[in-house]
Amino acid sequence: MKYLIANWKSTKSIKDALSWVKEFNQLLINNKQIVDKLNSDYLKIIICPSYHLITSVKEKIYKHKNIHLGSQDCSFFEQGNYTGEVSAQNIKDIVDYSIVGHSERRKYLKETDNVIDQKISLLKDYSIEPILCVRDEKDQIPHGVNLIAYEPVYAIGTGKNENINDVISSKIKISPDKGCVFIYGGSVNPENISQYSKSTEIQGFLVGNASKDPKSFLGIASKL
Ligand code: PGA
Repeated sequence: MKYLIANWKSTKSIKDALSWVKEFNQLLINNKQIVDKLNSDYLKIIICPSYHLITSVKEKIYKHKNIHLGSQDCSFFEQGNYTGEVSAQNIKDIVDYSIVGHSERRKYLKETDNVIDQKISLLKDYSIEPILCVRDEKDQIPHGVNLIAYEPVYAIGTGKNENINDVISSKIKISPDKGCVFIYGGSVNPENISQYSKSTEIQGFLVGNASKDPKSFLGIASKL
């Protein structure tokens, strides 16, 4: 099973998201090869829009057991009077996955390993599968995390993807538990995906920029 995860970040209005979904569905209907990969459980697609878009995307997206919705974060509060926060309890019925610990949040929102740990435990309580982003082997991986997205900071959004050998060396240092899904993220696109997709060391991809356009996102899927 290969995971292909779209991280739209804070980029889309409702109109943008719905036109993305419309184009995505159309492209998928016309691409038997990708549909076959989904049908045979070879490919799982997880789309992570901002919170305000999740329900609309979920309603309109091509229905398939291997196409899921995820959030880009969740609150470290469980629920209650925390103005502006969106908690795991709030989104438990609309997402199956949640990205957590993205380096942009560690940098701009000063998220620490302790905060991330708390979010992971709340996600688990509400049966949402965390996708934990780590920058390198120094970031903690709490027990029970099944999906680890290794994203070297210099490679995110820069067009400077890390080469496959360096990704594998980093995986050795990060040393994920056996059975953990190891995902790479950092400037993945349809042109450079082939070097990674051949390796059995990498079971998935977290895609930012190239996920914002359904053509390039599915261009990656077609090469997995
Ligand atoms: P990128 O983003 O594909 O634009 O490098 C990846 C990410 O931040 O998850």
